[in-house]
Amino acid sequence: MGFMSLIPIKQLLRSSSAYCQRWGVVRAYVSVASNEKRVMGKRPSIEGVKDIIAVASGKGGVGKSTTAVNLAVALAKTCQLKVGLLDADVYGPSIPTMMKLNGKPEVSKDDLKMIPIENHGVRCMSMGFLVGKDSPIVWRGPMVMSALEKLTRGVAWGQLDILVVDMPPGTGDAQLSISQRLQLSGALIVSTPQDVALIDARRGANMFRKVEVPILGLIENMSCFKCPHCGEQSYIFGSGGARRTADEMDMEFLGEIPLEVEIRKTSDEGNPIVISAPDSEASKAYSELANKVVNKLEEFTKGEQNRPQILL
Ligand SMILES: Nc1ncnc2c1ncn2[C@@H]1O[C@H](COP(=O)(O)OP(=O)(O)O)[C@@H](O)[C@H]1O
Ligand SMILES: [Mg+2]
Repeated sequence: MGFMSLIPIKQLLRSSSAYCQRWGVVRAYVSVASNEKRVMGKRPSIEGVKDIIAVASGKGGVGKSTTAVNLAVALAKTCQLKVGLLDADVYGPSIPTMMKLNGKPEVSKDDLKMIPIENHGVRCMSMGFLVGKDSPIVWRGPMVMSALEKLTRGVAWGQLDILVVDMPPGTGDAQLSISQRLQLSGALIVSTPQDVALIDARRGANMFRKVEVPILGLIENMSCFKCPHCGEQSYIFGSGGARRTADEMDMEFLGEIPLEVEIRKTSDEGNPIVISAPDSEASKAYSELANKVVNKLEEFTKGEQNRPQILL
């Protein structure tokens, strides 16, 4: 096990949900076992990054990127964490548009790593920064893997509390390879309430379980549409299915994100709803999601710490 060290409690809390609750602690010291995860030799797989989480689903178009963006911004804004966002969808990168970023990353002179581009308090990296907007990305498997390697370990992320990975759709080679190579701390599964999406969400969750990545939970996107004129609620893609699926698969149900024109519009404009309408119902749901994710990661870390340690 690692050596014991004294660190200021404020620094410790910065990466915890307790920090979100803004404790009135000025200065106190606490004795902790220093970074157990590192001692176990499993994580982190990118230097300086405490936790890497994937936002995934088996299916495309269910709102992975929208969720990843709003979650990342909420983690930075509400939880005051240092956050990175990696666009791992190398064939269909969405992050440049959704985060309103279009520059090319600079390369650091000393270690020749790409410097992430920042907006809304989040450091981002995407294949979209490196190729033209309309150029086709036609690659075979091994090229995808080496591109992903460059986008992860070839980037000067700096010190990060959380790196959010916006995953490509599906449960194939690329997804498996990302899950294993990055040694994810957890995976967040996104699904719409309809059956076809839920079936793929199950597949996604099972893939992570196979490679021993813990599931943070299931978030239902596009859950309910509230008519902006009369306020009537419509469950366009059905209701209750995601909660039921989460229960059946022993995953935590992490909440519902409404189906709203504003979410789509703000995504397209690169001004995520958690920034453009922080008091909206959707923003509150994303902030709650961010807090739940932080709590879950803490739970996982505690679980790991309580496991018998093997000295290597
Ligand atoms: N809750 C929502 N309400 C309205 N539109 C949404 C919502 N979530 C996603 N969208 C829109 O649906 C489309 C697909 O979302 P996206 O995040 O790109 O999905 P994925 O990454 O899973 O392919 C986008 O145009 C996005 O703006
Ligand atoms: Mg996407």
